[in-house]
Amino acid sequence: MSADTTHLIAVRDLAASYGHIEALRPTSLHVAPGEFVTILGPNGAGKTTLLRAITRLIPSKGQVMFKGRDVTGLKTHDLAELGIIMVMEGRGLFGDMSVRENLQLGAYKLSGSPADMDRRLDKVFTLFPRLKERIDQTASSMSGGEQQMLAVGRALMAEPKLLILDEPSLGLAPRVATEILSTLGALNKEGLGILLVEQKAPLALKLAQRVYILSSGSVRAELPTHEIKSHHDLARYYFS
Ligand SMILES: Nc1ncnc2c1ncn2[C@@H]1O[C@H](COP(=O)(O)OP(=O)(O)OP(=O)(O)O)[C@@H](O)[C@H]1O
Ligand SMILES: [Mg+2]
Repeated sequence: MSADTTHLIAVRDLAASYGHIEALRPTSLHVAPGEFVTILGPNGAGKTTLLRAITRLIPSKGQVMFKGRDVTGLKTHDLAELGIIMVMEGRGLFGDMSVRENLQLGAYKLSGSPADMDRRLDKVFTLFPRLKERIDQTASSMSGGEQQMLAVGRALMAEPKLLILDEPSLGLAPRVATEILSTLGALNKEGLGILLVEQKAPLALKLAQRVYILSSGSVRAELPTHEIKSHHDLARYYFS
C-alpha cells in the first residue's frame, strides 16, 4: 500500500511558472485525514500559487493524490466534486447577489432535496449567525469580515472533505480574524481537513497540527506546531 492512501491529499513535486518566473519550485506536501495544516511564508513566497496549482486554477507540473487516488489530470470542478474546495484570496463573491444566493451557489452539484439545502444553510448559520441576520443583504454591502464569513460559508455549502483557504484573515480586524479562524478550528475538530495559508502566524499555529514554511517558491521547513516554542523560531526560515 502506498503511503499516499493514508493521506487526504498528497502533492508531489508540484511546480508552476508564470512565463519565465518559476513561482513554485517542485514542492511536496500532504494533509492527513482530519488534519489542520498551515502554510506560512513571506509575501511573494508562492503560497497562492501553490494553492492554485493544487486546485488546478493554473497549469502545473507534478502529481496530486486525493484519498489514494491520482487526481492529477482532473480539473478544478472535478476536484470540487470530490470535495476539494478553496476559499480564494479576495473571496470571489457575487457582489450583487444576496447572502442566501451566494450560499446556494456554493452547494456544489447539490443532488439532494430542498431540505438538504436548508440543512446545509442551517449549519452555516450556526457557525456564522451574522450571515443569517443579513440573509437578504447583497454581498457587496457587507463588511469585510462578513464577506469573509460568507466566502467560508459558501465553501462549506459544498460539504468539503478538504477546505483550502488563502489568507482568510487578510485585511480584517483582529477580533473578526480570530472569530473566523476559530471557526475553522471548530470545523477541524469535527473532522474536516484544512489547508490554510495565513500570515497571522500565532493564531494559525495554535489551530494547526503541522506547518510548512514556504519561501522563494520552496518549502524551507515542515514542523509539527508543538515543536515551535516561539514565533521567532520561524523567522530564520523565511528568508533563508
Ligand atoms: N499572474 C501572475 N503573473 C506573473 N507573476 C505572478 C502572477 N501571480 C504571481 N506571480 C509571482 O509569483 C510569485 C509568487 O506569488 P504568490 O501570489 O504565489 O505569492 P504569495 O506567497 O501568495 O504572496 P502574498 O503573501 O503576497 O499573497 C511572486 O513573485 C509573484 O509576483
Ligand atoms: Mg497570496
